[in-house]
Amino acid sequence: MSAWSQLPLFEPPADDWTFSGAQTHSLTHCYHDYPARMIPQIAAKLIARFAPRPARLLDPYCGTGTSLVEGLIRGHEVHGTDLNPLARLISRAKLTPLPLAALDTACDDLEAWLRAPIGQPQKLPRGINLTFWFQPAVIERLAHIRAWLDQLSDDGLRAFFAVAFSETVRECSNARTDEFKLYRLPQKRLAQHTPDVFGTLRAKLRRNRAGLCEFLAAYASAPRQSRAYLHAFDSVKGIPASSIAPESVQIVITSPPYGDSHTTVAYGQFSRLSAEWLDLPDAARTDRALMGGVPLKDLPSFNVPALDSALQTIYAQCPKRALQVAAFYADLRASIANVAQVVARGGIACYVIGNRKVCGVLLPTDRAVQHFFETVNFEHVVTYQRAIPNKRMPQRNSPSNRVGVTDETMTREAILVMRKR
Ligand SMILES: C[S@@+](CC[C@H](N)C(=O)[O-])C[C@H]1O[C@@H](n2cnc3c(N)ncnc32)[C@H](O)[C@@H]1O
Repeated sequence: MSAWSQLPLFEPPADDWTFSGAQTHSLTHCYHDYPARMIPQIAAKLIARFAPRPARLLDPYCGTGTSLVEGLIRGHEVHGTDLNPLARLISRAKLTPLPLAALDTACDDLEAWLRAPIGQPQKLPRGINLTFWFQPAVIERLAHIRAWLDQLSDDGLRAFFAVAFSETVRECSNARTDEFKLYRLPQKRLAQHTPDVFGTLRAKLRRNRAGLCEFLAAYASAPRQSRAYLHAFDSVKGIPASSIAPESVQIVITSPPYGDSHTTVAYGQFSRLSAEWLDLPDAARTDRALMGGVPLKDLPSFNVPALDSALQTIYAQCPKRALQVAAFYADLRASIANVAQVVARGGIACYVIGNRKVCGVLLPTDRAVQHFFETVNFEHVVTYQRAIPNKRMPQRNSPSNRVGVTDETMTREAILVMRKR
C-alpha cells in the first residue's frame, strides 16, 4: 500500500459542532416541523460534555422540545417552557412514551372513522377567514378529523394525533409552506392545489409511529426513567418557584429566538392555522407575547459597547427598527436574570445564538448574552462556533425591509457556555 492511500481524504476538525449531513429527524424529532429548531446532536453533545450524570435540565424557550427529548432519554429530569401553545403541544407529544398497543388501537379506530361518511361539520375555527385559507373539500375533511380528535380522552394519545393533524392542516391549507409567515399561495399555484387530506394525515401518522418506536427503545434504555415537565410561564416575566425552585437546575440548554417575532421568525404566524383548528388559546396574540413583541419608547444602554453602538447606528437610519431590536435585548437580559436564579452554584447554561443583521448592521448577540450572564454571577467557560448547514432559517433576508434588497443573514451560530460561580 502506498503512503498516499493511508492518508485520510478528509480530516474532520477536532471539535466539530456543524454535524453536516447528520440525521436530525430521528426519534420523536420527526413529529413536526418548526422554525429555527435546534438540532438534537447539539443538545446531545452538550449533555455528554457538561451533564454526564442525571440532573435537572431546563430549556426556557423549549419550542418543540429538542433538548428536552435528548435529556429525557439520558435519564435527566427535564423542564421546558414556551409561550407558543402549539410548541408546547408538540413538545408534549414528543416527550410522551406512548404505549404502542394503545396507539395502534386508536389508529384502527381513526381509520374506520376516515372511511365512514363525512357528516355535517360540528365545530369550525372562527378566528381566521376559513375559505381564504382552505378549500371547501379540505375544510370538510379537516372538520371530520377534528370531530374524531375531540372524542379522545387520553392526553398523550390526543397530543400524538393532534400533532399529525397540525402538520396536515398546514400542508393542506392555501398557505405557502416554504415560508414561516402566513402568505397565501399565488393564484396560479392554487389552481393546481388539490391536497389529499386523509392521505397526508396517514403519512404523518406512519412516520411519527416509526419515530415513537425509536424513542421508546431509547427511553427504555435510559440510565433511569426520568420525567418531563412542561410549563407555560413567560421566561421574561419570571420563573415561578412553584414550577422550578431557586438554585435547583444543573444545566440549561436552549436556543432563544434570534430577535422579535415581527421581524425575524414569526412563530405565531407559523402556528396560526393549526392553532385555530386545534382551538389552542390566544392563537392571534402569540407573536406580540413573545420576546421583543412590544417595542421600547427610548433607546437604552446595555453596557455592551458593541451592542450599544450597533443599536445607535440602526437608530440613525430607522428609529422604529432600533426600538424593536432594543426591546428584544431588554427582554433577553431580563430572562437571563430569571434563569440565573434557578441555576444551582456550579451549574451550566448553554445558549445557542445567532448574530443577525438589521439594516446591514451586525448585532453581537453572543457578546450581549455573555455580558448579561456575567452581571448575574456567571463566568464564561467556552464558546463553540458552528456553521449552519441545515437549520430551517432563511439564509438571506431583507434586513433593510426594502422589497428585493436582501443580505446574507445567519450562516453561523455560537454555542455559549457559562457557569454559575
Ligand atoms: C428558536 S425557538 C426554540 C426552538 C427549540 N430549541 C426547538 O428545537 O424546537 C425559540 C422559542 O422561544 C419561544 N419564546 C419566545 N419568547 C418567549 C418567552 N418570553 N417565554 C417563553 N418562550 C418564548 C418561541 O415561542 C419559540 O418557540
